[in-house]
Amino acid sequence: MPIRTIIEPFRIKSVEPIRWTTRAEREQLLRAAYGNVFLLPADDVLIDLLTDSGTGAMSTFQWGAVMEGDESYAGSRSYIRFRDSIQDIFGYRHVIPTHQGRAAERILFNVMCKKGDVVPSNTHFDTTRANVEFVGAEAVDLLPPEGKQPSLVAPFKGNMEVAALENLIQRVGRERVPLVMLTITNNSGGGQPVSMANARAVSAVCRRQGIPFYFDACRFAENSYFIKLREPGYENKTPKQIAREMFQLGDGCTMSAKKDGMANIGGFLCTNDDALAQQEKDLLILTEGYPTYGGLAGRDLEAIAVGIQEALQEDYLKYRIASTAYLGNHISEQGVPIVQPPGGHAIYLDARAFLPHIPPHQFPGVALACELYLEGGIRAVEIGSLMFGKAATMDLVRLAIPRRVYTQSHIDYVIEVILEVWRQRERIHGLRLTYEAPFLRHFTARLEPVADRAEGAAE
Ligand code: F0G
Repeated sequence: MPIRTIIEPFRIKSVEPIRWTTRAEREQLLRAAYGNVFLLPADDVLIDLLTDSGTGAMSTFQWGAVMEGDESYAGSRSYIRFRDSIQDIFGYRHVIPTHQGRAAERILFNVMCKKGDVVPSNTHFDTTRANVEFVGAEAVDLLPPEGKQPSLVAPFKGNMEVAALENLIQRVGRERVPLVMLTITNNSGGGQPVSMANARAVSAVCRRQGIPFYFDACRFAENSYFIKLREPGYENKTPKQIAREMFQLGDGCTMSAKKDGMANIGGFLCTNDDALAQQEKDLLILTEGYPTYGGLAGRDLEAIAVGIQEALQEDYLKYRIASTAYLGNHISEQGVPIVQPPGGHAIYLDARAFLPHIPPHQFPGVALACELYLEGGIRAVEIGSLMFGKAATMDLVRLAIPRRVYTQSHIDYVIEVILEVWRQRERIHGLRLTYEAPFLRHFTARLEPVADRAEGAAE
C-alpha cells in the first residue's frame, strides 16, 4: 500500500520554547489586556495564530544566505540575487524592493492613481484599500455571490466577477480606472484561491480596454498549488510553471515577502513599464531607500531570494495546504462552523454561527477569540464588527498558520481546544467597548464582558 501520511518536510534544528500559563493567569492577563488579544504580551501566548505574516521559520539555506548579505548601499550583490530570483518566477522587467507589502502599495497607488479614480479588485486587503483611498480613489471589491457564502464549498471562491468588472468599467469610464488588482489568494475572503481561467479572463478585459493589470501576490505559491490540485489541465505542471503562467497575464505586482517570500520582513513592487518604474524608484528614494535595497538590509534580500523559491517546492506546499485543511476538517466534522473550504494560510471560524446568542454589537468574534485564549492560550484575530464596525457583514475569527512553525501535535492541541470551547459555547458572553480609537480601532480597543444576555437584548 502506498504510504499516505503527509509529514512536515523538514527536521527541526533550532527550537524556541513556548510558555504555559494557568487558566487563572490567563484570566488575569486578558483582563489586563482589556479583552483585546492584540494587547497581550506575545510571551504569554502558547500558540500564536494571529497572523502568518513575518512569523514563518527560515530554512538553513536562508540562514546561510543571510551570512552572505552584501550591505553595500548601492549595487549590492544581494540585490542582484534578489532581483534574479524574483524575475525567474514573476518575469517582470523591474523589481523594486520595499520594507513590506504596504510600502509597495503606497508607491504603486501614488504613481498610478488620482482623486476620483476607481480601482477594482476581487477583494482589496485592508492596507490596499487604505492606500487606494489615501490618494482619493475608490477601492471596489468584485467578488461573485459564491465567494460571499461562508458554508458553500467551491474550488475558486477567490475569483473576481468578470461581468461586474466589465459593467464597472463601462459605468465609470475606462479613463477613471488606472489599474485592476487581483489578490492571490484572497485573504479577506477566507484565503480562497483564484483560478487561472479567472485571471486569464480578467487579463483579457484589461488588455481589451488598455488597463494595466496588477497582482497582489502575497500568497501566490499557495494559489498556484490550489490550481494544480483543482483546475483541469494543471495537474502535471509544477507550482513554478503555474506561477509563471499566471504572472505573464499581468503587467506587474505588489508583494509582501512576509508571506510566500518565507521571510520575516520585506516586500517588492514589479512592473514592465519603464516610465512608471522610474517614477516609482524616485518615490522609493524619498521614503524607503536607494533602489537596490529599498529599506531592507542586504541579508533580508538574500533571505527572500532563497525563501521565494522554497515556497514553490511541491513537498512544502503539499504539507502546507494539507495541514491547514487538517485543522479545518477536524473541527468542521464536529459541527464547528468555518468558512468552507479550508483556505491556504488560515481557517476562519464563523463566530455568528458559533455564538448565535451574541448579537453582532456585542462582538461575537472577539468573545470567541478571548475564549480560545482563556481555554488554551491560543491567539487568533477577529475579522468582523470590531474591525469593520457596522459595515461588517460577517463576524469571523481567523486562525492563521505561520509557515513551518507548528507541528501536527500543535495543531491537534488547537483542535482539542476549539472543540472544548464549542462544547461550552452557550456560557460565553458578549463584550462591550470601553475605549475606541478614531480609526483602525481593533488594534487598541478596550472591552469588558457584558453581565448577562438581557443587557444585549435591551440595546
Ligand atoms: N495584501 C494582502 C493580501 C495581505 O494579506 C497583506 C498583509 C498585505 C497586502 C500587506 O502586506 O503586511 O507586508 O504590509 N497581511 C497581513 C495579515 C498583515 O495578517 O493578513 P504587509
